Amino acid sequence: MLVYLIGFMGSGKTTVAKKIATHLGWELTDLDRLIETRTGLSVEDLFRDKGEHFFRKIESEVLRNIDYKLNNVVACGGGTPCFYDNMDYMNKTGLTIYLKMSTGALQNRLSKSISVRPLIKDMSDGELTSYINKTVTHREEWYGRAAVVTDGLNADISEIISAIQEHLLYNL
Ligand code: S3P
Repeated sequence: MLVYLIGFMGSGKTTVAKKIATHLGWELTDLDRLIETRTGLSVEDLFRDKGEHFFRKIESEVLRNIDYKLNNVVACGGGTPCFYDNMDYMNKTGLTIYLKMSTGALQNRLSKSISVRPLIKDMSDGELTSYINKTVTHREEWYGRAAVVTDGLNADISEIISAIQEHLLYNL
């Protein structure tokens, strides 16, 4: 079974995915890293040299190539659910978990890692604030369709594990 961690950049998807995978003894897949392995290019290079449209196409293909028969925790990219019919696909093939975080907390966390994120690098504080507000509002339409919505800032791992176990029980 696949568990998909979704949420905005900086919401803790990779960290939480690692904890869950370790706890359950499952595989861990970071979608951005998988895209980098498949293309031989970093996410930053893909955005800069090939453009976002190309990145989204590859992202959607790589997502569909993950073997959904394996027990695997997938940390998605922030935009993954919002392109093509990725959200429907993820809801069909696994359990989607949205790590929800306030725009203030996102701003605080992202301002520390701004230079490594292609969509926000070179933004001033003010630009980052309006980008987060605008984009989170827009993306809620997809994020809000997750099977489980949980607090990203103080992610309760045992609560997430219980939700996964319950899902497993009903989908045997
Ligand atoms: C993106 C988020 C990034 C990465 C790419 C685009 C987005 O992943 O996929 O830079 O659209 O929000 P993280 O959320 O893991 O930073």
